[in-house]
Amino acid sequence: MSLHSLLQTKLPPEKLALLPKSFEVIGDIAIISIPTALEDEKYIIAEAFSSLRKDVKTILRKLHKIEGSARVADFELLLGERTTTMHRENGCLFELDVTKTFYSGKMHYERDRIAHKVKDDENVLVLFAGVGTFLIPIKKRKTVNITGLDNNRDACQFLRKNLELNHVEANIVHGDARHINNLFKISFDRIVMPAPYGQDSFLDIVRSILRPGGCVHFYTFKKDFEIPHFKRLLEEKGWNIEFSRDCGNVAPRVKRYVFDLKSR
Ligand SMILES: C[S@@+](CC[C@H](N)C(=O)[O-])C[C@H]1O[C@@H](n2cnc3c(N)ncnc32)[C@H](O)[C@@H]1O
Repeated sequence: MSLHSLLQTKLPPEKLALLPKSFEVIGDIAIISIPTALEDEKYIIAEAFSSLRKDVKTILRKLHKIEGSARVADFELLLGERTTTMHRENGCLFELDVTKTFYSGKMHYERDRIAHKVKDDENVLVLFAGVGTFLIPIKKRKTVNITGLDNNRDACQFLRKNLELNHVEANIVHGDARHINNLFKISFDRIVMPAPYGQDSFLDIVRSILRPGGCVHFYTFKKDFEIPHFKRLLEEKGWNIEFSRDCGNVAPRVKRYVFDLKSR
């Protein structure tokens, strides 16, 4: 049964048409976007949703777009109490507070793909590591020396907890990626960087801590028409593009892209 059919007798057709068609479930927390035109019906909608998804214990309404360097949205609690949950992805467990740290399940395929690309004995850096969604699957599959960096203290604390939960070890650095030249005195074989929106300049910064011939998995946000120009720019800056793919829309016409790069 759908939310629409469950509420058919409770809401007029013009309100039914506005019901959210998509939602994200992280562990036992559901995140839904309810338009302001359904303000008076928000609790009825949350109740209906919870009767459809018995596994969901908390329902949060996403209020604003993801903003700020921590990439965390604003939420209104509609049902339940907890905002901390345990989520399983790629065979790993992640504890996180959705109101304090970034998480999106849309990247699960990429996190698994990168874990398979990494080679044993590499020295790997995960910038913008969050709660460990790229780092932990890599460390679970490969014998590597791995470091995760994030400037969100809460994300670093959950990352520490998640290392324990998954029985793996890693170095955690709570710091600003803009200062990596001061933070690291070694070179990395591979750097994974799910860079924040509009911050492509981080790709220039990592050059100084990447060994010659090293790999970078660079995530960026672009419109389709910008890609040919961006690829030319990467080549001009001394990167070989080994692979690239569109990882899906994040806003109308804006997509997340990944570029697997090798330094020349
Ligand atoms: C889009 S999230 C990616 C999180 C994680 N890698 C994932 O895919 O789930 C971006 C992360 O970068 C962190 N961040 C943003 N700006 C940063 C900076 N200047 N230095 C270090 N971390 C930063 C945020 O705290 C956030 O955890």
